[in-house]
Amino acid sequence: MSSNKKIMVTAALPYANGPVHIGHLAGCYLPSDIYVRYLRMRGRDVKFVCGSDEHGVPITIKAKKEGITPQDVVDRYHGMMKGAFEEFGIDFDHYSRTSSPQHHKNAQEFFTNLMEKDALVAKETQQYFDPEASQFLADRYITGECPKCHAADAYGDQCESCGTSLSPTDLIAPKSTLSGAIPELRNTTNWFLPLDELSDELRAFLESREGWKPNVMGQCMSWLNAGDGLQPRAMTRDLDWGVPVPVADAEGKVMYVWFDAPIGYISATQELLPDTWEAYWKGDDAEIIHFIGKDNIVFHCIIFPAMLQQHGEYAMPTAVPANEFLNLEGRKLSTSKNWAVWLHEYLEDFPGQQDVLRYALTATMPETKDNDFTWADFQTRNNSELVAGLGNFVNRVMVLTHKYYDGVVQEPGVLTDADREALATMTQCGRRIAKSLDAFKFRDALNEAMNVARLGNKYLQEQEPWKVYKQDPARAGAALYVATQIMGIASIVFEPFLPTTASKLRGMLNQSGVPTWEQSNEEIVVPAGTQLGESALLFSKIEDEQVEAQREKLQASAAANEAAKAPSTTEKKQMPQKEDISFDQFMSMDLRVGTILEAERVPKADRLLKFLVDTGLDQRTIVSGIAEHFSPEEMVGKKVTVLMNLPPRKIRGVESQGMLLMAEDGDGSLRLMTPENGADSGAVIG
Ligand code: 2FM
Ligand code: ZN
Repeated sequence: MSSNKKIMVTAALPYANGPVHIGHLAGCYLPSDIYVRYLRMRGRDVKFVCGSDEHGVPITIKAKKEGITPQDVVDRYHGMMKGAFEEFGIDFDHYSRTSSPQHHKNAQEFFTNLMEKDALVAKETQQYFDPEASQFLADRYITGECPKCHAADAYGDQCESCGTSLSPTDLIAPKSTLSGAIPELRNTTNWFLPLDELSDELRAFLESREGWKPNVMGQCMSWLNAGDGLQPRAMTRDLDWGVPVPVADAEGKVMYVWFDAPIGYISATQELLPDTWEAYWKGDDAEIIHFIGKDNIVFHCIIFPAMLQQHGEYAMPTAVPANEFLNLEGRKLSTSKNWAVWLHEYLEDFPGQQDVLRYALTATMPETKDNDFTWADFQTRNNSELVAGLGNFVNRVMVLTHKYYDGVVQEPGVLTDADREALATMTQCGRRIAKSLDAFKFRDALNEAMNVARLGNKYLQEQEPWKVYKQDPARAGAALYVATQIMGIASIVFEPFLPTTASKLRGMLNQSGVPTWEQSNEEIVVPAGTQLGESALLFSKIEDEQVEAQREKLQASAAANEAAKAPSTTEKKQMPQKEDISFDQFMSMDLRVGTILEAERVPKADRLLKFLVDTGLDQRTIVSGIAEHFSPEEMVGKKVTVLMNLPPRKIRGVESQGMLLMAEDGDGSLRLMTPENGADSGAVIG
């Protein structure tokens, strides 16, 4: 890659319909962040964008389920996702959202551009329609049997079991996910991208790409070479949520989410660099790299490139280093089955230990095949590699230098062969890591970085400055000088992988600012005479009980999820009716719609959550015993029903000024009483 390139790195825009989990992180956000941090250290002109994908059926389905609007759903998750990425050091230059006005404008201009070139073809086709819900059933609004692997629950756009991309009419025995009704076919007009006519151009583009991962190129070629080749694909939908189709008489039609989402990368760049964004997207100097998971390959390597080719003004993607999937304890990660490690929950259980997760996930990254994250592996990687390896090495250098030399790095004098060999070896590490990172081999790169710590420990073990000091303090000082240089290299090469740790290392070495990658080739990173800072704790041991608790939590939340989804049966125990009350008694209750502004757990009270609720009248604190059913994060932004005029009472030292109403099933499962139709805070119920 020549150095005058403008490098645009994108990470797949996640759907704003749930919190972020470890599969997201390992799939594309961690590799892209590592890559960008590395490029920045090399002084490359790189921009890193992402944002929330706020359109598409997953969002509208979630909204329907909760009785809120799609906008409510995306508003709730956009901030949460952005915050989780920040917490884990995913250092986007800009994190946007596809509901932004800039994006709507940009996507509509793109669509209009293709229309003007006759690159989109209007066609009347038969699409499934739900007669009960009076709605066309695009994508995930319809399920049925996969025609390929025969899984029972394939969606109208994709089978999650075998990854095949589908059309609703491919499904065997289709069923509406809205009402369960058997859908009927009705005529409707949509705009299609005629991929069948674009195969040759796409093939030429793909064949001109160099060094693509075999898993990515293999998938592209199997699409192109499939028996009946590429098929025209509808780029619009009969839905009311999405970017409106900018064509006269196209009311009730929006762009297909996979049409507008990748354009979102461009919109995000426009928001970041209103005057200079084009340099990163157009012309020979633009290098575009899309980090994604394997389920997104067809959209980034076939459909988006076809759109770009038809548009004609944009550079084509240089690389699409897609990862495979990460499993969790032997099972597929699943948001809907609650089989996941959520980042916000990880942070509660392992505060300040973001780098440990970054390390464990990079070490098990599913680069070439699906891989499994287990809590046992997480514990071993922390205890054996981070604590006993990197942490122990750094601790020995710091403690010994402070103990013998008041923390001052000593002049080494004449170096021994062993010293020179250690220094020569360590200056090779940066180059080896760079080679792996340039090829998107993040696991190899991390292993090479860990070799720096291994080298440091081996060197100290052989030189034993703690023994040598008694007879020859100068020699012990020289050995610690060499060890300090190794620590200096560690502070450079770990920066892309473990940014918080690298920053702590720089603090201990009394260095400020992120170094350049080229400094890892130097033998003197920390000059003699440097006064080292305080020793900081880098990692701490993770105990068996902690990982056991995580495994139990996973099983329990998946089981609770299963139970919540079990069909309600007439055998369910029903509460007996309470005694009659008077009409006046009922009328004396002041019930209003409230919005939860803040939510947190009550310390030392496992069942209690404390909320700050906007009641329209005021903002008040309400404590509720629902912590076993809801996490604080999922409650923020929710509309609830509040009993206002219950006398305030203290619960575990917190004054609760009202009550949130819940619906409780005979089996103890709880649902929020959420008003439909987006009623505002303060609306009076009765
Ligand atoms: O799979 C997903 O989560 C999609 N929302 C990814 C979109 S990537 C891009 F095209 F924006
Ligand atoms: Zn299938």
